[in-house]
Amino acid sequence: MHPDGERILLSQEVIRERVTALGEQISRDYAGREVLAVGILKGAMIFLADLVRSITVPVQIDFVAITSYGSSARSSGAVRILKDLDESIAGRHVLVVEDIVDSGLTLNYLAANLAARAPASLKICTLLNKPTRRVVPVSVAYSGFDIPDEFVVGYGLDYAGRHRNLPYIMILRREVYGG
Ligand code: IMP
Repeated sequence: MHPDGERILLSQEVIRERVTALGEQISRDYAGREVLAVGILKGAMIFLADLVRSITVPVQIDFVAITSYGSSARSSGAVRILKDLDESIAGRHVLVVEDIVDSGLTLNYLAANLAARAPASLKICTLLNKPTRRVVPVSVAYSGFDIPDEFVVGYGLDYAGRHRNLPYIMILRREVYGG
């Protein structure tokens, strides 16, 4: 394990199995329809890349970039779109793909913003969920894992831009982020 890690929370193998199962479930639920998977940059890119490969219905991909934590481990609450979708989502079946739902502020804002663009349907798929940290409600249709209130990195998730490339998810040592 990387020396900044306290312990591995989710191994590569455990993640792979769960992501495959999510893809199968999504494929069943969207049978006969085409999905527009909207990844939230940058954290969701690795999850999205693996997820779409286990989805068997037609899938298109787009991305939005949103302000996140910067280099601090706690949310400022400020949400702003840095890069919008390339295409219109009107009449399309949108599946928002996120790395983690924490306070819910990011997705609460984004879901309302996207819903106003008249998609045929709008659902949220998150790899990780920290239910005990929720500040505003978020309706999550697909969730990979409920995790405790710990700061985690790897598999797309970062601290100060680092550790996204780890193939597993580990709890970051508190000394590293001063939490
Ligand atoms: P929310 O708006 O508080 O729900 O936060 C969502 C965003 O915060 C995620 O997309 C992540 O970028 C970031 N985040 C929340 N918890 C963690 C964590 O444990 N590790 C890394 N990033 C996190």
